[in-house]
Amino acid sequence: MNSDATQVCVVGAGAAGLYAALSATRLGARVTLVSATPLAGSSSYWAQGGLAAALSAEDSPELHLRDTVAAGRGMVRLSAAKILCDEAPAAVEDLASLGVRFDADRRGRLALGLEGGHSVRRIVHAGGAATGRRLIRQLSALVAQDDRAEVLEGRRVTAVLGAEGRATGVRLEDGAGITSAAVILATGGAAALWARTTNPPGAIGGGLLLAYHARAALADLEMMQFHPTAVVAPDGADGFLVTEAVRGEGALLLDAGGDRFVDELAPRDEVARAVQRRMIETRSDSVALDMRDVDPALFPNVVTALRSAGIDPEREPVPVAPAAHYMMGGIATDLYGRATLHGLYAVGECSCTGLHGANRLASNSLSECFVFGARAARAAVGEPPPGHPAGDRDRSGRDPLAEPPPSPSPPSREALWRQAGLERSGDGLRALMDDPYPLVRLIAACGLVRTESRGAHRRVDYPATDPALDGRHARVLEGADPALERWD
Ligand code: SIN
Repeated sequence: MNSDATQVCVVGAGAAGLYAALSATRLGARVTLVSATPLAGSSSYWAQGGLAAALSAEDSPELHLRDTVAAGRGMVRLSAAKILCDEAPAAVEDLASLGVRFDADRRGRLALGLEGGHSVRRIVHAGGAATGRRLIRQLSALVAQDDRAEVLEGRRVTAVLGAEGRATGVRLEDGAGITSAAVILATGGAAALWARTTNPPGAIGGGLLLAYHARAALADLEMMQFHPTAVVAPDGADGFLVTEAVRGEGALLLDAGGDRFVDELAPRDEVARAVQRRMIETRSDSVALDMRDVDPALFPNVVTALRSAGIDPEREPVPVAPAAHYMMGGIATDLYGRATLHGLYAVGECSCTGLHGANRLASNSLSECFVFGARAARAAVGEPPPGHPAGDRDRSGRDPLAEPPPSPSPPSREALWRQAGLERSGDGLRALMDDPYPLVRLIAACGLVRTESRGAHRRVDYPATDPALDGRHARVLEGADPALERWD
């Protein structure tokens, strides 16, 4: 296929990008999928969590919505969360029809797991904690075989191009342009900007900067979710995520004295903060995750990874501590993934529909990739063809070729961990405003405007939640300070 004929250009080949691409080709569109990594090399590949969906007899979308809203600490955009909870069961069904094999119980029904903040079992997995791997393999294979999809692997997008107030395509690192009626960014999150993270090194928010420089709004960048149980180890295993699902199967969190100190299945912000507090109180760099009573057959890849790091979870507790894990903020979108620039869309972790509020409910994010990936594809295929081919200039008028995308330095990552970690202060956030990496400055700016503590954002100088900020999102545009606004 000639990329000149592209109707939809999808950037990123994680769960959201692959599914958006497949959804668009199934609607008859021609798609170019650009991926910086080889197919099946995205962050989603490593996802251990599953898909949250109300599938059991004792569950309902209403109950799922109630849990999502409770976890989100007064900041969930109800319209988006309702769509997620209503449409997640059909997304699971569709994935199964596409050949994804989800785990079943002995009677052949979907096996449903439990994670923090869920009032009933509703997490669907594939291959235990190998859900991401199974999904990405299957969806990558389908995209690779799809005549309507052209896949550009190992290619990096350096700019969203535009004309007459709308996106018209993207420019690649080598200067080539792709013209398309719609651009869907599915570039993943930004947790690897923090020095301690569960994410692979590429998760530095590149897509957020592409959108920002195209003059699309970003939102809620202060809302980084910290996962409570990332392994503390001296070598390459440091930061390895031990899925929350092990706590759903009975694993316990214990302090240095062997005592429990938190409800292991409370929402994630609460558990992460309790772990951090207990580490400070006991002057320890970790707490213990005791999964000795958990059936190792349920989590074969977790057990194997821990063993290869020299930890035998069947015999000894696993040292864990919080790490940056998931960006709840991102490119501000409507309920069809539309960014604030016409023709530009965002789905998956790089997007911010507002559905996660200030604290994402575990495993809502994979469901979001499919529910909103399909919705964005439906809207994108209806975009009119661009009047102009992709131009030489990005939307801000700069020559993108003159500005290779910057990378955060180790000192920026250390500074973000120190000043915008589980606890922040106005002084620390202001210190980040001089950081050379633009996204660090934007995260700090959003953190400064939110003068309260809520969910993942804990300010020591504003320890209380301000009810006046319920439902308000920090929106930031190039050339303007962030402002808090209400989303319907
Ligand atoms: C986990 O399995 O604990 C992580 C998945 C998620 O972030 O929802």
